[in-house]
Amino acid sequence: MEVRIKNLTKAFTSQKGPEVIAVNNMSFIIPDGVLVGLLGPSGCGKSTTLYMIAGLHKPTEGQIFFGDEEVTNVPPEHRGIGLVFQNYALYPHFTVRQNITFPLDNVRPKLDRQEKEAIAREMARIVDIEHLLDRKPKELSGGQQQRVAIARALSKRPKVLLLDEPLSNLDARLRLQTREEIKRIQRETQITTIFVTHDQEEAMSISDIIVVMKDGVIQQIGEPQHVYDEPENLFVAQFLGSPAINIFDGEIKKGVLYVEGKPVDTSDVYKLPHVYEEKIELPRVVDEKGKEVGEVQYEIKKVSKKDRHVKVGIRPESFRLNQKDGHIVIRIDYIEHIGRDISIVGGIDQQEDSRVKIIIPSELRPKVIDQTICRFDAARYYVFETDGTRIK
Ligand SMILES: Nc1ncnc2c1ncn2[C@@H]1O[C@H](COP(=O)(O)OP(=O)(O)O)[C@@H](O)[C@H]1O
Ligand SMILES: [Mg+2]
Repeated sequence: MEVRIKNLTKAFTSQKGPEVIAVNNMSFIIPDGVLVGLLGPSGCGKSTTLYMIAGLHKPTEGQIFFGDEEVTNVPPEHRGIGLVFQNYALYPHFTVRQNITFPLDNVRPKLDRQEKEAIAREMARIVDIEHLLDRKPKELSGGQQQRVAIARALSKRPKVLLLDEPLSNLDARLRLQTREEIKRIQRETQITTIFVTHDQEEAMSISDIIVVMKDGVIQQIGEPQHVYDEPENLFVAQFLGSPAINIFDGEIKKGVLYVEGKPVDTSDVYKLPHVYEEKIELPRVVDEKGKEVGEVQYEIKKVSKKDRHVKVGIRPESFRLNQKDGHIVIRIDYIEHIGRDISIVGGIDQQEDSRVKIIIPSELRPKVIDQTICRFDAARYYVFETDGTRIK
């Protein structure tokens, strides 16, 4: 089922304190059968968005469509959704079987015992807990409980599956395992799924498409790898990736990018938008009575964009050691080992407060180990205006 969100806004008002715009004019389309990761820092409006799609929150403005049907005012129980929360919310005194079939009790016409048992077995098979049907929740691990919650959400064969931080209460190992499991279940069932998380790595690994949010506003939508490679702004660049992208001060002078007085990449910095075209209105023709006549004429003038400060971003894995004539001079504070790679922690030489983390293959260790300063080039870098807009 395709899910379409149109100009969705949610404002929370309370007696004390100002109005909070939790979701601000959001629009996006989730194609049928896709798993979308809704990603952003805590408080950015992910849950609010999900609950509006579920029907638990009424939008202040905007519309929600499931396929061709507008569901904005349809109550949650008639939307055909399955909802899974962070805290599994299972009934403790029910068995797994009873928890899974509980939502079927309000299905009309009523299902008989055998029909319910068949569904319980099938859902348990999908989430791989068939052997646990007679247990009570407290006899299960967190990961198993979350699978029961997913089975319960699937039992009414929802058209849309909504998951709000479903892995947050699991320990690291179970989190990875259950994540793979959710991916597998989604592939198997082909249910359009919205997966909310604040964990960028989780979103990147599980999603077909990610929607990055900040302050109730969509920052970027796309395939995870594409969003990582082509962030549209500084926020997205910094939010994706671990270790995070390195950001430091740069300067554009006559269209050339400098970091600490050195041109960063002489080969293609000129592709920066250092000139723009300005449309200048020409004086109009005047007749003998002093009245302006004829069409307004313009002249297109190429203007050099003024020299300014910018932010330069280089991902930790994008540095290339070039001791002889690298353009980026790095002060090394210390070196760490991460698996087969080594990580150099330091800063841009001369840029006191800059912090840089560089990841290079361990073969290069002998070349950097006794150095206090190393020169690098960037295989890839980004340039942002100080307001965060990406310009390269
Ligand atoms: N029921 C509510 N009443 C008032 N403010 C709310 C309510 N729910 C959420 N908010 C506010 O809306 C914003 C977005 O919250 P939420 O959607 O829960 O964010 P997220 O899920 O991304 O952490 C936050 O500022 C939060 O405090
Ligand atoms: Mg939330």
